Amino acid sequence: MIDPDRGPSSDSDHDPGLDREQPTVYRPAEDSALLVEAATETAHGRVLEVGTGSGWVAERIADERGLRVIGSDRNPHAAAEARGRGVEAVVADLLDPFRADAFDTVCFNPPYLPTDPDNEWGDWMERALSGGESGRALIEPFVADVGRVLAPYGVVLLLVSSLAGYDAVLDLIETAGFDAEVVREESFPFETLSVLALRRAE
Ligand SMILES: C[S@@+](CC[C@H](N)C(=O)[O-])C[C@H]1O[C@@H](n2cnc3c(N)ncnc32)[C@H](O)[C@@H]1O
Repeated sequence: MIDPDRGPSSDSDHDPGLDREQPTVYRPAEDSALLVEAATETAHGRVLEVGTGSGWVAERIADERGLRVIGSDRNPHAAAEARGRGVEAVVADLLDPFRADAFDTVCFNPPYLPTDPDNEWGDWMERALSGGESGRALIEPFVADVGRVLAPYGVVLLLVSSLAGYDAVLDLIETAGFDAEVVREESFPFETLSVLALRRAE
């Protein structure tokens, strides 16, 4: 994730994709690289990357593991960029369009910056970065629903930042019926990033 102090700002409420001056798609960063490291080691079977952004993570998993990887993103500009990389990408809100038991591996580097509602800037980059007031606005519905699309022995690889409240995310994971294992972790001056592997609790 980029340094929150350097995040873009704009109060525009027009179609954010029409503003050519602002980036419209999240650029791969340290969090993306950490997810790639975990996924190229752990991913198996049919893979979904939720919030694929540029498609870089999905492309790396497909190339390094020889797996079929579907990318999805709410941002149509992201889905288009990912398709340009050769990723099968669809526009979707989280897990909504996917059927039960469809994937063996689900990866997600969610928007997680805690954001004061008065400071939301309302463009595609805000949607890529902001996790609402708690930082968990997208993590909560994702963790609650991901078990539905996951095959019986599937794994979820979830990027978690300390900024979003590590213990609170663990509580959500436990409530949803998963065990969590830390498979990658890296600390930076303003946050610690972890990739958690979630598997159904025995
Ligand atoms: C932190 S970026 C990660 C991008 C990319 N996976 C990476 O690691 O470089 C989060 C992504 O989630 C997408 N996103 C935000 N809300 C979403 C939603 N409700 N459903 C699907 N994707 C969403 C954003 O558009 C953005 O591309």
